[in-house]
Amino acid sequence: SLVYKLCVLSVGVLVSSAAGATDDLMSAAKEAFEPIPSVVPAIKDNTVTHEKVELGKTLFFDPRLSASGIISCNTCHNLGAGGVDAGPTSVGHGWQRGPRRAPTVYNAVFNVAQFWDGRAADLKAQATGPIQASVEMNATPDRVLNTLNSMTDYVVMFQKAFPNEARPVTFDNSAKAIEAFEATLITPAAPFDQYLKGDEHALDDQQKAGLKLFMEKGCSSCHNGINVGGQDYFPFGVVERPDGTLLPSADKGRFAVTKVASDEYVFRAAPLRNVALRAPYFHSGQAWSLKQAVGVMSETQLGAKLSDKEENDIVAFLNSLTGQLPKIEYPRLPTRSDATPRPSL
Ligand code: HEM
Ligand code: HEM
Repeated sequence: SLVYKLCVLSVGVLVSSAAGATDDLMSAAKEAFEPIPSVVPAIKDNTVTHEKVELGKTLFFDPRLSASGIISCNTCHNLGAGGVDAGPTSVGHGWQRGPRRAPTVYNAVFNVAQFWDGRAADLKAQATGPIQASVEMNATPDRVLNTLNSMTDYVVMFQKAFPNEARPVTFDNSAKAIEAFEATLITPAAPFDQYLKGDEHALDDQQKAGLKLFMEKGCSSCHNGINVGGQDYFPFGVVERPDGTLLPSADKGRFAVTKVASDEYVFRAAPLRNVALRAPYFHSGQAWSLKQAVGVMSETQLGAKLSDKEENDIVAFLNSLTGQLPKIEYPRLPTRSDATPRPSL
Protein backbone atom coordinates (compact mmCIF):
# COMPACT_ATOMS: atom_id res chain seq x y z
CA SER A 1 0.00 0.00 0.00
CA LEU A 2 0.93 3.60 -0.40
CA VAL A 3 0.97 4.15 3.35
CA TYR A 4 3.38 1.25 3.81
CA LYS A 5 5.61 2.52 1.03
CA LEU A 6 5.67 5.99 2.54
CA CYS A 7 6.55 4.51 5.90
CA VAL A 8 9.44 2.53 4.44
CA LEU A 9 10.56 5.59 2.58
CA SER A 10 10.49 7.84 5.60
CA VAL A 11 12.21 5.26 7.78
CA GLY A 12 14.83 5.00 5.08
CA VAL A 13 15.28 8.77 5.05
CA LEU A 14 15.51 8.86 8.83
CA VAL A 15 18.11 6.14 8.96
CA SER A 16 20.26 7.65 6.25
CA SER A 17 20.06 11.15 7.70
CA ALA A 18 20.92 9.81 11.16
CA ALA A 19 23.93 8.00 9.69
CA GLY A 20 24.84 11.18 7.80
CA ALA A 21 24.66 13.21 11.00
CA THR A 22 27.01 10.89 12.87
CA ASP A 23 29.43 10.84 9.93
CA ASP A 24 29.33 14.62 9.92
CA LEU A 25 29.99 14.69 13.65
CA MET A 26 32.97 12.40 13.26
CA SER A 27 34.46 14.37 10.40
CA ALA A 28 33.94 17.65 12.25
CA ALA A 29 35.66 16.10 15.28
CA LYS A 30 38.56 14.92 13.12
CA GLU A 31 38.99 18.50 11.90
CA ALA A 32 39.13 19.94 15.41
CA PHE A 33 40.98 17.27 17.42
CA GLU A 34 43.76 14.74 17.08
CA PRO A 35 44.22 11.37 18.77
CA ILE A 36 47.02 10.86 21.31
CA PRO A 37 49.73 8.78 19.60
CA SER A 38 50.48 5.35 21.01
CA VAL A 39 54.25 5.90 20.80
CA VAL A 40 56.35 8.33 22.83
CA PRO A 41 56.77 11.59 20.88
CA ALA A 42 60.21 12.89 19.91
CA ILE A 43 61.33 16.01 21.80
CA LYS A 44 63.54 18.83 20.57
CA ASP A 45 67.31 18.46 21.24
CA ASN A 46 66.77 15.56 23.63
CA THR A 47 66.70 11.99 22.35
CA VAL A 48 64.47 9.87 24.54
CA THR A 49 66.44 6.78 25.59
CA HIS A 50 65.56 4.05 28.06
CA GLU A 51 68.42 5.13 30.33
CA LYS A 52 67.31 8.78 30.36
CA VAL A 53 63.73 7.82 31.10
CA GLU A 54 64.79 5.60 34.02
CA LEU A 55 66.94 8.39 35.46
CA GLY A 56 64.16 10.93 34.93
CA LYS A 57 61.65 8.69 36.65
CA THR A 58 63.98 8.21 39.64
CA LEU A 59 64.45 11.98 39.92
CA PHE A 60 60.70 12.57 39.59
CA PHE A 61 60.02 10.33 42.59
CA ASP A 62 63.02 11.42 44.72
CA PRO A 63 62.04 13.79 47.56
CA ARG A 64 65.70 14.47 48.28
CA LEU A 65 65.68 16.95 45.40
CA SER A 66 63.82 19.18 47.86
CA ALA A 67 65.49 20.89 50.80
CA SER A 68 63.10 19.26 53.26
CA GLY A 69 63.60 15.79 51.82
CA ILE A 70 59.85 15.25 51.80
CA ILE A 71 58.66 16.86 48.55
CA SER A 72 59.15 15.22 45.17
CA CYS A 73 57.65 16.14 41.81
CA ASN A 74 55.18 13.33 42.50
CA THR A 75 53.97 15.07 45.68
CA CYS A 76 52.21 17.70 43.59
CA HIS A 77 51.93 15.74 40.33
CA ASN A 78 50.76 12.42 41.77
CA LEU A 79 50.92 9.96 38.90
CA GLY A 80 48.35 7.74 40.59
CA ALA A 81 45.91 10.63 40.83
CA GLY A 82 45.79 12.08 37.32
CA GLY A 83 49.14 13.83 37.70
CA VAL A 84 47.90 16.42 40.21
CA ASP A 85 47.68 16.98 43.98
CA ALA A 86 44.55 17.21 46.11
CA GLY A 87 44.25 20.95 45.60
CA PRO A 88 42.97 23.54 45.64
CA THR A 89 46.43 25.10 45.16
CA SER A 90 49.72 23.33 45.85
CA VAL A 91 51.32 23.13 49.28
CA GLY A 92 55.12 23.20 49.17
CA HIS A 93 58.16 23.85 51.37
CA GLY A 94 57.37 24.73 54.97
CA TRP A 95 53.64 24.19 54.43
CA GLN A 96 53.46 27.24 52.17
CA ARG A 97 50.47 27.43 49.89
CA GLY A 98 51.28 28.41 46.31
CA PRO A 99 48.97 30.63 44.28
CA ARG A 100 47.96 28.09 41.62
CA ARG A 101 46.54 24.65 41.06
CA ALA A 102 49.06 22.03 39.91
CA PRO A 103 48.38 21.21 36.26
CA THR A 104 48.76 17.58 35.23
CA VAL A 105 52.05 16.28 33.89
CA TYR A 106 50.21 13.66 31.79
CA ASN A 107 50.31 14.68 28.11
CA ALA A 108 52.00 17.96 29.09
CA VAL A 109 54.50 17.25 26.28
CA PHE A 110 51.76 18.16 23.79
CA ASN A 111 51.02 21.61 25.23
CA VAL A 112 52.24 24.64 23.30
CA ALA A 113 54.12 25.86 26.40
CA GLN A 114 54.14 25.05 30.11
CA PHE A 115 52.28 26.59 33.11
CA TRP A 116 48.85 28.23 33.29
CA ASP A 117 50.43 31.32 31.73
CA GLY A 118 52.78 29.53 29.29
CA ARG A 119 55.90 31.10 30.82
CA ALA A 120 58.14 28.06 30.23
CA ALA A 121 58.75 27.13 26.60
CA ASP A 122 59.03 23.39 27.18
CA LEU A 123 59.33 20.65 29.79
CA LYS A 124 63.07 21.03 30.12
CA ALA A 125 62.82 24.75 30.80
CA GLN A 126 60.07 23.95 33.28
CA ALA A 127 61.81 21.20 35.25
CA THR A 128 64.51 23.31 36.94
CA GLY A 129 61.89 25.76 38.24
CA PRO A 130 60.07 23.82 40.96
CA ILE A 131 63.29 22.42 42.46
CA GLN A 132 64.46 25.96 43.20
CA ALA A 133 61.14 27.66 43.86
CA SER A 134 60.96 28.60 47.51
CA VAL A 135 57.26 27.73 47.74
CA GLU A 136 57.82 24.38 46.07
CA MET A 137 61.01 22.38 46.76
CA ASN A 138 63.28 25.22 47.94
CA ALA A 139 66.61 23.65 46.90
CA THR A 140 69.58 25.25 45.17
CA PRO A 141 71.29 23.75 42.10
CA ASP A 142 74.39 23.24 44.30
CA ARG A 143 72.43 21.32 46.89
CA VAL A 144 70.90 19.13 44.18
CA LEU A 145 74.30 18.43 42.61
CA ASN A 146 75.82 17.61 46.02
CA THR A 147 72.92 15.25 46.65
CA LEU A 148 73.23 13.47 43.31
CA ASN A 149 77.04 13.25 43.42
CA SER A 150 76.91 11.79 46.92
CA MET A 151 75.26 8.59 45.68
CA THR A 152 77.20 6.28 43.35
CA ASP A 153 74.05 4.82 41.87
CA TYR A 154 73.00 8.27 40.66
CA VAL A 155 76.41 8.98 39.16
CA VAL A 156 76.27 5.68 37.26
CA MET A 157 72.73 6.43 36.04
CA PHE A 158 73.84 9.83 34.70
CA GLN A 159 76.83 8.19 32.98
CA LYS A 160 74.51 5.72 31.26
CA ALA A 161 71.96 8.36 30.31
CA PHE A 162 74.57 10.79 28.95
CA PRO A 163 77.29 8.40 27.74
CA ASN A 164 79.41 10.86 25.75
CA GLU A 165 79.87 13.45 28.47
CA ALA A 166 82.91 13.73 30.71
CA ARG A 167 80.93 15.23 33.63
CA PRO A 168 77.35 14.12 33.13
CA VAL A 169 75.96 15.01 36.58
CA THR A 170 74.61 18.51 35.88
CA PHE A 171 71.46 20.41 36.74
CA ASP A 172 70.75 20.75 33.03
CA ASN A 173 71.01 16.99 32.47
CA SER A 174 68.64 16.38 35.38
CA ALA A 175 66.11 18.55 33.56
CA LYS A 176 66.71 16.67 30.32
CA ALA A 177 66.17 13.32 32.00
CA ILE A 178 62.97 14.53 33.69
CA GLU A 179 61.78 15.88 30.35
CA ALA A 180 62.45 12.50 28.70
CA PHE A 181 60.49 10.72 31.45
CA GLU A 182 57.62 13.20 31.10
CA ALA A 183 57.48 12.50 27.35
CA THR A 184 56.49 8.93 28.27
CA LEU A 185 53.58 10.20 30.39
CA ILE A 186 51.06 10.04 27.57
CA THR A 187 47.63 8.47 27.83
CA PRO A 188 46.44 7.03 24.50
CA ALA A 189 43.37 4.97 23.69
CA ALA A 190 40.66 7.01 25.43
CA PRO A 191 37.19 6.29 24.02
CA PHE A 192 37.47 9.67 22.26
CA ASP A 193 40.74 8.60 20.56
CA GLN A 194 39.08 5.42 19.34
CA TYR A 195 36.23 7.54 17.99
CA LEU A 196 38.65 9.89 16.21
CA LYS A 197 40.25 6.83 14.64
CA GLY A 198 36.89 5.83 13.17
CA ASP A 199 35.18 3.65 15.80
CA GLU A 200 31.61 4.93 15.74
CA HIS A 201 30.72 2.87 18.83
CA ALA A 202 33.52 4.16 21.06
CA LEU A 203 31.25 6.98 22.30
CA ASP A 204 27.71 6.38 23.55
CA ASP A 205 24.80 8.56 22.44
CA GLN A 206 25.08 10.95 25.37
CA GLN A 207 28.80 11.43 24.77
CA LYS A 208 28.13 12.12 21.10
CA ALA A 209 25.47 14.65 22.06
CA GLY A 210 28.04 16.25 24.39
CA LEU A 211 30.70 16.32 21.69
CA LYS A 212 28.23 17.99 19.33
CA LEU A 213 27.42 20.64 21.94
CA PHE A 214 31.11 21.10 22.73
CA MET A 215 31.72 21.99 19.09
CA GLU A 216 28.49 23.86 18.30
CA LYS A 217 28.46 26.02 21.44
CA GLY A 218 32.06 27.06 20.77
CA CYS A 219 34.07 25.26 23.47
CA SER A 220 36.25 23.73 20.76
CA SER A 221 37.22 27.14 19.41
CA CYS A 222 39.55 27.32 22.44
CA HIS A 223 39.82 23.67 23.50
CA ASN A 224 41.04 21.85 20.41
CA GLY A 225 44.00 19.90 19.01
CA ILE A 226 45.60 16.84 20.52
CA ASN A 227 45.09 17.88 24.17
CA VAL A 228 41.61 19.37 23.66
CA GLY A 229 43.21 22.61 24.89
CA GLY A 230 46.73 23.63 25.84
CA GLN A 231 47.35 25.20 22.43
CA ASP A 232 46.55 28.89 22.91
CA TYR A 233 45.75 31.69 25.40
CA PHE A 234 42.44 33.41 26.15
CA PRO A 235 41.01 35.73 28.77
CA PHE A 236 39.36 33.85 31.66
CA GLY A 237 36.15 35.82 31.42
CA VAL A 238 35.65 36.67 27.75
CA VAL A 239 31.99 37.60 28.20
CA GLU A 240 31.50 37.67 31.95
CA ARG A 241 34.18 38.00 34.61
CA PRO A 242 34.34 35.00 36.95
CA ASP A 243 33.91 35.83 40.65
CA GLY A 244 36.94 36.61 42.79
CA THR A 245 37.10 33.10 44.20
CA LEU A 246 37.55 31.52 40.79
CA LEU A 247 39.65 34.40 39.47
CA PRO A 248 41.59 36.01 42.34
CA SER A 249 42.52 39.52 41.25
CA ALA A 250 46.20 39.23 42.27
CA ASP A 251 47.01 36.62 39.61
CA LYS A 252 46.96 38.43 36.28
CA GLY A 253 47.99 35.37 34.28
CA ARG A 254 49.84 35.89 31.05
CA PHE A 255 50.25 39.62 31.73
CA ALA A 256 53.17 38.67 34.01
CA VAL A 257 54.90 37.05 31.03
CA THR A 258 54.21 39.57 28.24
CA LYS A 259 53.49 42.81 30.21
CA VAL A 260 50.89 43.64 27.56
CA ALA A 261 47.69 45.11 29.06
CA SER A 262 45.44 42.98 26.87
CA ASP A 263 47.00 39.88 28.48
CA GLU A 264 45.60 40.67 31.93
CA TYR A 265 43.71 37.62 33.22
CA VAL A 266 44.64 35.66 30.10
CA PHE A 267 45.43 31.99 30.68
CA ARG A 268 46.21 28.96 28.57
CA ALA A 269 43.00 27.19 27.53
CA ALA A 270 43.32 24.26 29.92
CA PRO A 271 44.11 20.92 28.30
CA LEU A 272 41.08 18.69 28.96
CA ARG A 273 42.63 15.23 28.53
CA ASN A 274 41.80 13.11 31.63
CA VAL A 275 40.00 16.12 33.08
CA ALA A 276 37.55 13.86 34.92
CA LEU A 277 40.45 12.56 37.06
CA ARG A 278 41.59 15.86 38.45
CA ALA A 279 39.15 18.09 40.26
CA PRO A 280 39.29 20.80 41.57
CA TYR A 281 39.35 22.91 38.42
CA PHE A 282 40.77 26.20 37.13
CA HIS A 283 44.09 27.80 38.06
CA SER A 284 42.55 28.74 41.39
CA GLY A 285 41.40 25.15 41.99
CA GLN A 286 38.04 26.34 43.30
CA ALA A 287 35.51 24.42 41.18
CA TRP A 288 35.10 21.00 42.76
CA SER A 289 32.95 19.32 40.14
CA LEU A 290 33.29 19.04 36.41
CA LYS A 291 29.67 20.01 35.95
CA GLN A 292 30.28 23.24 37.84
CA ALA A 293 33.38 23.94 35.71
CA VAL A 294 31.37 23.39 32.52
CA GLY A 295 28.68 25.79 33.77
CA VAL A 296 31.28 28.42 34.65
CA MET A 297 32.94 28.10 31.23
CA SER A 298 29.73 28.48 29.25
CA GLU A 299 28.78 31.60 31.19
CA THR A 300 32.17 33.30 31.41
CA GLN A 301 33.57 32.36 27.99
CA LEU A 302 30.46 32.10 25.84
CA GLY A 303 27.80 34.09 27.65
CA ALA A 304 25.48 31.10 27.37
CA LYS A 305 23.42 29.42 30.06
CA LEU A 306 23.38 25.68 29.38
CA SER A 307 20.45 23.51 30.45
CA ASP A 308 21.01 20.80 33.03
CA LYS A 309 20.82 18.19 30.27
CA GLU A 310 23.33 20.04 28.11
CA GLU A 311 25.77 20.28 31.02
CA ASN A 312 25.37 16.57 31.73
CA ASP A 313 25.93 15.72 28.06
CA ILE A 314 29.13 17.77 27.93
CA VAL A 315 30.36 16.16 31.15
CA ALA A 316 29.66 12.74 29.58
CA PHE A 317 31.75 13.78 26.58
CA LEU A 318 34.56 15.03 28.86
CA ASN A 319 34.55 11.63 30.56
CA SER A 320 35.40 10.07 27.20
CA LEU A 321 38.74 11.94 27.34
CA THR A 322 40.09 9.62 30.04
CA GLY A 323 42.85 7.54 28.44
CA GLN A 324 45.05 4.64 29.50
CA LEU A 325 47.56 5.75 32.10
CA PRO A 326 51.02 4.24 31.58
CA LYS A 327 52.05 1.46 33.98
CA ILE A 328 54.78 2.93 36.14
CA GLU A 329 56.96 0.81 38.35
CA TYR A 330 57.96 2.73 41.46
CA PRO A 331 61.76 3.19 41.19
CA ARG A 332 64.23 2.08 43.84
CA LEU A 333 65.84 5.34 44.91
CA PRO A 334 69.65 5.35 45.37
CA THR A 335 70.71 4.90 49.00
CA ARG A 336 72.19 7.91 50.79
CA SER A 337 75.85 8.11 51.79
CA ASP A 338 77.56 10.08 54.55
CA ALA A 339 78.11 12.89 52.04
CA THR A 340 74.41 13.27 51.20
CA PRO A 341 73.08 16.64 52.46
CA ARG A 342 70.66 16.15 55.36
CA PRO A 343 67.08 17.38 55.23
CA SER A 344 66.61 21.00 56.24
CA LEU A 345 63.02 21.64 57.15
C1 HEM B 1 53.47 23.15 36.81
C2 HEM B 1 56.50 19.37 36.42
C3 HEM B 1 57.42 19.82 41.14
C4 HEM B 1 53.36 22.41 41.59
C5 HEM B 1 54.19 22.10 36.29
C6 HEM B 1 54.25 21.72 34.89
C7 HEM B 1 55.09 20.65 34.79
C8 HEM B 1 55.56 20.34 36.11
C9 HEM B 1 55.46 19.90 33.52
C10 HEM B 1 53.53 22.42 33.76
C11 HEM B 1 52.36 21.61 33.28
C12 HEM B 1 51.47 22.41 32.36
O1 HEM B 1 51.60 23.62 32.30
O2 HEM B 1 50.62 21.81 31.71
C13 HEM B 1 57.13 19.28 37.66
C14 HEM B 1 58.35 18.55 37.92
C15 HEM B 1 58.63 18.72 39.24
C16 HEM B 1 57.55 19.51 39.80
C17 HEM B 1 59.15 17.78 36.89
C18 HEM B 1 59.83 18.24 40.01
C19 HEM B 1 61.08 18.64 39.60
C20 HEM B 1 56.32 20.44 41.68
C21 HEM B 1 56.07 20.58 43.10
C22 HEM B 1 54.92 21.29 43.22
C23 HEM B 1 54.48 21.64 41.89
C24 HEM B 1 56.91 19.95 44.19
C25 HEM B 1 54.17 21.69 44.48
C26 HEM B 1 54.82 22.14 45.60
C27 HEM B 1 53.14 22.94 40.36
C28 HEM B 1 52.25 24.06 40.10
C29 HEM B 1 52.32 24.32 38.73
C30 HEM B 1 53.21 23.30 38.16
C31 HEM B 1 51.42 24.82 41.13
C32 HEM B 1 51.61 25.44 37.98
C33 HEM B 1 52.42 26.70 38.17
C34 HEM B 1 51.97 27.85 37.30
O3 HEM B 1 51.21 27.69 36.34
O4 HEM B 1 52.42 28.97 37.58
N1 HEM B 1 55.00 21.24 37.01
N2 HEM B 1 56.68 19.86 38.81
N3 HEM B 1 55.33 21.08 40.99
N4 HEM B 1 53.70 22.51 39.17
FE1 HEM B 1 55.13 21.14 39.00
C1 HEM C 1 39.41 25.96 31.49
C2 HEM C 1 35.68 23.39 29.67
C3 HEM C 1 34.80 27.05 26.59
C4 HEM C 1 39.14 28.91 27.62
C5 HEM C 1 38.43 24.98 31.31
C6 HEM C 1 38.17 23.89 32.20
C7 HEM C 1 37.15 23.15 31.69
C8 HEM C 1 36.74 23.80 30.48
C9 HEM C 1 36.53 21.90 32.27
C10 HEM C 1 38.95 23.60 33.49
C11 HEM C 1 40.01 22.55 33.24
C12 HEM C 1 41.01 22.39 34.35
O1 HEM C 1 40.99 23.12 35.34
O2 HEM C 1 41.86 21.50 34.22
C13 HEM C 1 35.08 24.21 28.72
C14 HEM C 1 33.78 23.97 28.12
C15 HEM C 1 33.51 25.01 27.30
C16 HEM C 1 34.68 25.88 27.33
C17 HEM C 1 32.90 22.76 28.40
C18 HEM C 1 32.25 25.30 26.52
C19 HEM C 1 31.07 25.34 27.20
C20 HEM C 1 35.93 27.82 26.53
C21 HEM C 1 36.14 28.91 25.61
C22 HEM C 1 37.38 29.44 25.90
C23 HEM C 1 37.92 28.69 27.01
C24 HEM C 1 35.17 29.33 24.53
C25 HEM C 1 38.11 30.60 25.25
C26 HEM C 1 37.45 31.74 24.88
C27 HEM C 1 39.54 28.35 28.82
C28 HEM C 1 40.62 28.85 29.64
C29 HEM C 1 40.69 27.98 30.76
C30 HEM C 1 39.67 26.98 30.59
C31 HEM C 1 41.48 30.07 29.35
C32 HEM C 1 41.64 28.14 31.94
C33 HEM C 1 40.95 29.03 32.96
C34 HEM C 1 41.80 29.22 34.19
O3 HEM C 1 42.60 30.16 34.21
O4 HEM C 1 41.68 28.46 35.13
N1 HEM C 1 37.54 24.92 30.26
N2 HEM C 1 35.59 25.38 28.22
N3 HEM C 1 37.03 27.70 27.35
N4 HEM C 1 38.98 27.23 29.40
FE1 HEM C 1 37.28 26.31 28.81
